Formats: sequence, C-alpha cells, structure tokens
Amino acid sequence: MRILVIGGGGREHALCWALARSSSCTALYCAPGNAGTKACAESVAIAAERVEELVDYARKQAIDLVVIGPEAPLVAGLADRLKAAGIAAFGPSASAARLEGSKAFMKDLCARHGIPTAAYGRFTDLEEARAHLHRQGAPIVVKADGLAAGKGVTVAMTLEEAETALEETLVSGRFGDAGGEVVIEEYLEGEEVSFFALCDGTTARPLASAQDHKRAYDGEAGPNTGGMGAYSPAPLMTDALQARVMAEIIEPTIAAMAAEGYPYQGVLYAGLMVTPEGEPRLLEYNVRFGDPECQILMLRLESDLAELLMATAQDRLANAEIRWRPESAITVVLAARGYPGSYAKGETIRGLDAAAAMEGVTLFHAGTSEGPDGSVLSAGGRVLNVCALGADLATARNRAYAAIARIDWPGGYYRRDIAWRALDW
Ligand code: AMP
Ligand code: GLY
Repeated sequence: MRILVIGGGGREHALCWALARSSSCTALYCAPGNAGTKACAESVAIAAERVEELVDYARKQAIDLVVIGPEAPLVAGLADRLKAAGIAAFGPSASAARLEGSKAFMKDLCARHGIPTAAYGRFTDLEEARAHLHRQGAPIVVKADGLAAGKGVTVAMTLEEAETALEETLVSGRFGDAGGEVVIEEYLEGEEVSFFALCDGTTARPLASAQDHKRAYDGEAGPNTGGMGAYSPAPLMTDALQARVMAEIIEPTIAAMAAEGYPYQGVLYAGLMVTPEGEPRLLEYNVRFGDPECQILMLRLESDLAELLMATAQDRLANAEIRWRPESAITVVLAARGYPGSYAKGETIRGLDAAAAMEGVTLFHAGTSEGPDGSVLSAGGRVLNVCALGADLATARNRAYAAIARIDWPGGYYRRDIAWRALDW
C-alpha cells in the first residue's frame, strides 16, 4: 500500500510511525508533516485544508489509502472527494463528520435514537436562549454549534458567565460561522474519559480508552488547551463499562448514521462523562483520533495499522485483527511558554536523541520545523510529545519524566502531574 497521511501534528507523526512499521505499507507520505515525520514519511508541502490539491497529489502518486488526521479537511469533504476519485480514505464523509462539525446535529441524532447525553436546547435567537438559561439555572454549558478549535465550549458556573458566552457566540461573532447557533446543555457531573472505536459504516470495533488533561497547568489550573498529556488505558474504563459504552452509545450511533443515510467510516472518538452513579453519558463526538491520545494508542497497538485502517475504509472491519500490547502508555506534552496564548517560535531544542534513547521512550514531534543545519526548532504551541510504555502506568510515567529531563529547551514547559487521577503522587 502507498499511503498518504494528512496533517502535521503529533497525532500525524504517531500515525506515520505506526504505518511505517506496518509490513503492508510500501511507501509513506505526509502532507504537510513536521520535522519528526520526515524520519518515517516523505513530506509533501500541501496544507491539510487544501482539498483539491491533496486529491490531485494522491491521484498522481497512485496512493492506495489516504489517512486523514484532523477534523477540518473531513468536515470540508476530503474523504468524499477522494472516494469520488477512486482512492480509499480513512475518515468520514462530510455529512458523517457533522457528528463533530455540528453539535446541534449530534444532539438531535442522539435525541432521535435515545443515545444517553446531556439534555439540551438549540438557539439562534439571543432572547430565546437567555430565557432558556434563566429557566434552567446554573451551572450550565454553552456551546457554539460549529468547529471552534476547541474554544467554543463554556462550562458556566454562574448565569452571568453563561450570558457572556451567549453574547460572545451569538452577537459578537467570536466564533464566526461556527457561532450562528448555540447549544445550551445540562451540566453533567462525574469523571471524563475518552473512548475510541473504529467504524466501517456498519461494524464498530472498540479500540481503547484514554484520559487527557486539557488545562495548561498542574492541578487542572489555567486555560484550556488542546491537551497537555494523556494515558491509556484509563483505569476508570473497566471491561463492563466498555461493553456498556459500545452497546448504549457507539453501536446505536453507527446504526443511526447508517439508517439516516450517512454511514460512518473512520475512528469515532467519544468524549464521555461517567456519572457518580457509574452511568456513561456522551459529552461530544470527534470524528478523528485525539491529539495527544492517538500517540499513546499507536504505542500500544500491536496489529498492523495499515491493514486496520484499510479494512475500515473498505467496510471489512468485522474480521480485522486488533491486538494490543499489555503495557500502559503515557504522553507528556512539551509546549512553548505562553501557549495557549501567544508564544515564541524558532527556538532550538536540544537533547532529543538522548531522551529518545531511554528505555521504553518514544518522541513524537507536534509543532517543530528543521533549521538549515538540521537542528530541531519550535514551530507551534504544542511542540513535542514525550511518550513512554511501561509494565504499569507508574513505570511509564517515570520513564517519560526521566526523558523530558534530558531535553534542553528553556522556552518550553510541561505539566508535572500527568495521570494524577490514576496514580498516587
Ligand atoms: P467539548 O468540546 O464538547 O468536549 O467540551 C469541552 C469540555 O467541556 C469537555 O471536555 C468537558 O470537560 C466540558 N463539558 C462539555 N459538555 C459538558 C456538560 N454537558 N457537562 C459538564 N461538562 C461539560
Ligand atoms: N485531546 C483532545 C482532542 O484531541 O480533542
């Protein structure tokens, strides 16, 4: 298989790394890639949003499978365009990608099919939305309908906060087109866990669970980020709970999408709240692998990833082999000081080889570029993913933190408490 991966973050580096190890992969390209993906895939200078150029490139290079990392090209219809050109794509069609691209679509689908999620209302009119807020009271959750780079959700502890979020979304246009409509949701209490399943349109197969840390600083303080670290499996996700998530949430969703005419093909990432009573509730769907959760799933996966993703794209997942290593995995994100606000770029990072040489450790690049002399430079907010496997989570954690100590980059920062929920500190 000749494979093209779309995207240029840590998720895509991990996908390239795992595909390069797949015996069925004979040639590997990454558009646009980063300084890390170069070690396993040929970089292609086309941005992930340039749908037509990517289709042309895939055609010219006789690509057999395109693996689409981020949500934006999926929502823009890249998988549809590739399929129309006769090229297999891993990732849902634009209409199926609405599970992430429109929160109102997702909530309505759940309501029609009895999939357990927070109660909600959808609004385009500020006064109606405000009246709903006052009927419900705080705490309450306000979400911009469309893609808002992870910033469209406000968990409001007071009605004032909720009103501000409503005004910013519906009136000030903070999220552009994504904020023409809001979903106002019941606030759910509990512990969050992420769950990943592969779906080929008709069959869903469980992958694994993970927990991530969205806040920037230790102790779940500071602003929300794309994720500062994660671990897998999540001890909270027992076999019994996984069976319930598949039967009550994932499988009904796949059946509903197929029945309504937009079969879902790709990875389905469910953000779940497990209530204090142990009930799983769907918070959100993403139509892609999580970043940085993908990195640790790829470390744990033993089966041939290329085969698995092709089986997903070709509607033959039912008999595919999905085997996992017995170890636990962790990733700690090394970010630029200032992220998720403004930060410097172009700083030299040293010590990567020494860190990567440590037992059980794998480094994935997220936002890096290569300097003229071959040095690694920072080029984004989340810059590196320091990942480790270990016989247990504590061992994995110790390995990752020992490796990060070898990296020399004064402009970087990281959380020192990744996996605190699952470990004693
Ligand atoms: P989302 O982008 O929809 O995942 O929301 C971002 C974060 O907001 C989630 O990871 C949760 O921590 C929180 N959140 C979203 N919806 C709810 C809800 N209904 N109740 C409580 N917290 C929520
Ligand atoms: N780490 C959270 C996400 O990928 O959305």
